[in-house]
Amino acid sequence: MRMHKALFTALALSVGITVSAQTNEMVIQTKKLGAPIQSTMYGLFFEDINYGADGGLYAELVKNRSFEFPQNLMGWKTFGNVSLQEDGPFERNPHYVRLANPEHAHKRTGLENEGFFGVGVKQGEEYRFSVWARLPEGGKESKIRVELVKTNSMGEQHGFATQDVVINSTEWKKYQVILKPNITEPKSVLRIFLASNTTVDLEHVSLFPVDTWKGHENGLRKDLAQALADIKPGVFRFPGGCIVEGTDLETRYDWKKSVGPVENRPINENRWHYTFPHRFYPDYYQSYGMGFYEFFLLSKEIGAEPLPVLSCGLACQFQNNNMDAHVPTCELDSYIQDALDLIEFANGDVSTKWGKLRADMGHPESFNLKFIGIGNEQWGPEYPEHLEPFIKAIRKAYPDIKIIGSSGPDSEGKQFDYLWPEMKRLKADLVDEHFYRPEKWFLEQGARYDNYDRKGPKVFAGEYACHGKGKKWNHFNAALLEAAFMTGLERNADIVHMATYAPLFAHVEGWQWRPDMIWFDNLNCVRTVSYYVQQLFALNKGSHTLNLTMNNKNVTGAEGQNGLFASAVWEEADQTYIVKVANTSNNSQPITLNFSGLKKNNKLSNGVCIKLRSQDLDKDNTIENPDAIVPQESNVSIDGHIFNAELEPHTFTVYKFEKR
Ligand code: AHR
Repeated sequence: MRMHKALFTALALSVGITVSAQTNEMVIQTKKLGAPIQSTMYGLFFEDINYGADGGLYAELVKNRSFEFPQNLMGWKTFGNVSLQEDGPFERNPHYVRLANPEHAHKRTGLENEGFFGVGVKQGEEYRFSVWARLPEGGKESKIRVELVKTNSMGEQHGFATQDVVINSTEWKKYQVILKPNITEPKSVLRIFLASNTTVDLEHVSLFPVDTWKGHENGLRKDLAQALADIKPGVFRFPGGCIVEGTDLETRYDWKKSVGPVENRPINENRWHYTFPHRFYPDYYQSYGMGFYEFFLLSKEIGAEPLPVLSCGLACQFQNNNMDAHVPTCELDSYIQDALDLIEFANGDVSTKWGKLRADMGHPESFNLKFIGIGNEQWGPEYPEHLEPFIKAIRKAYPDIKIIGSSGPDSEGKQFDYLWPEMKRLKADLVDEHFYRPEKWFLEQGARYDNYDRKGPKVFAGEYACHGKGKKWNHFNAALLEAAFMTGLERNADIVHMATYAPLFAHVEGWQWRPDMIWFDNLNCVRTVSYYVQQLFALNKGSHTLNLTMNNKNVTGAEGQNGLFASAVWEEADQTYIVKVANTSNNSQPITLNFSGLKKNNKLSNGVCIKLRSQDLDKDNTIENPDAIVPQESNVSIDGHIFNAELEPHTFTVYKFEKR
């Protein structure tokens, strides 16, 4: 049937005949607005995986800055007379280094930090080096030299961007100096050495670009944060994923350790350092430098609703389903208190304990938290048993906060079928569904939400990505199928209230999981086609759905629909109709958009077509070619209320028309 039509289309085109407009006529009912589209559509899910935080979005360039990794000098190389001490000024990070005179006057004492896959710096930019230091043996002053060092292809080293720092107190003090490299170098090392005769103690050695996102000192990489802002996300889910749960309860993400002075935030093991033996990164820890305060601030600055997720007292059930990895439900109090305190931290008045901490950190105003997730991919009866007391306590103290439960790690099947009714029973406000699935699944799920129960919790498509069969990397076709699937999210705006692709970030040299939405190295950022799909939906989400049908049926890629998926919305603010169409087939296809129900004097004008297309379905943007596939925008004209177009094979297209 499909071949038949393709042949006909090709033939028709070759003889210059316009293909029958009725072939794929999509009728958009303009008279009646459908469901309002939630402001939380479409969002972002952040997890510290693939060096997404430390070594990624968090702009710190020094690894193991507090000497607290289990091997205290991991990431550091020492020379001369360096010793590790453990009675430092920061209670949770007691280790520091002592630089004393080497035995021989001509020798040097110091250390070098390798950064995250090197220390990446740009010519002409400013970098703030800071260190806590003291003179432990008295004396008036001592000097350390700080420099960035490049190694050339012959193995020769040379320092650039050098500064001296004078240490002048026997008390611990913070010192800082600006380095301004005269070259761009993605893989330098940071060298610090004693430049005078007096012994010096050093703690919390840090190097940040001055030009961070919004200029914050404990800030974020500007290019990566900008990529997030450019999506205009509706919601920002953090801090994970599996890292919320931990491999064991000890290593779960503990938000209380991630706030307060950055020097005193302890490190946490990052489970992604060992999850996949073939992608093993023994130096991958969480510094908590980008903690909950920074997450809330970022959410605000990119205009997204913050959505923190907390442990429900169950460690990762994939990795560790032993009973000692579960808190007995009768001992959940401190976990529940963590959730209540978090709401106070985000929203509480400055007279409250946690509200005061937020104010002390620089944000006296409330962060206006509205949502909280409890548990990530939990399953089995343990999960509802653990969730229930959280729901009771949160409802009692904060009845307006919306609570998000989980349907487990699968998009269907036993756990999913068990958990959805449980979430209904517990009256969770939203249910977080996760699906990393192959092409076939995405092609078959266009109508997934069309028949969901409208009376229960709303849907949060919290983690999803098309994982091509045998092609678990970013490529155009995966992104196209995500777009096709997302037309179903859009059509079901009455029940789908949030959606976030996953994971967000990946360092090209340090990934554990792919595909991902944004790739980066030490100096560059790559927006993938999946990124552009998310962005096209988010920037064109509209205010209300509109009914769109072909042969009186939703366009969901079902049998007889020629691999087409489509949805339509109305944007009240600029009086625009927006139609999204994915052609997942191998065929070029004519379509007609018929805007039905418009009054005679209504005109549609200023037509715009934004298209994502690649002839090579396996291709995506790369560090070398970051703009290989980007949305192409052009003007299109519309005749009355009818628009005709030819959809090339494998394209995702957004059409916009203003109503006059
Ligand atoms: O996104 C990567 C992981 O996938 C998340 O941590 C987890 O929630 C899911 O299994």
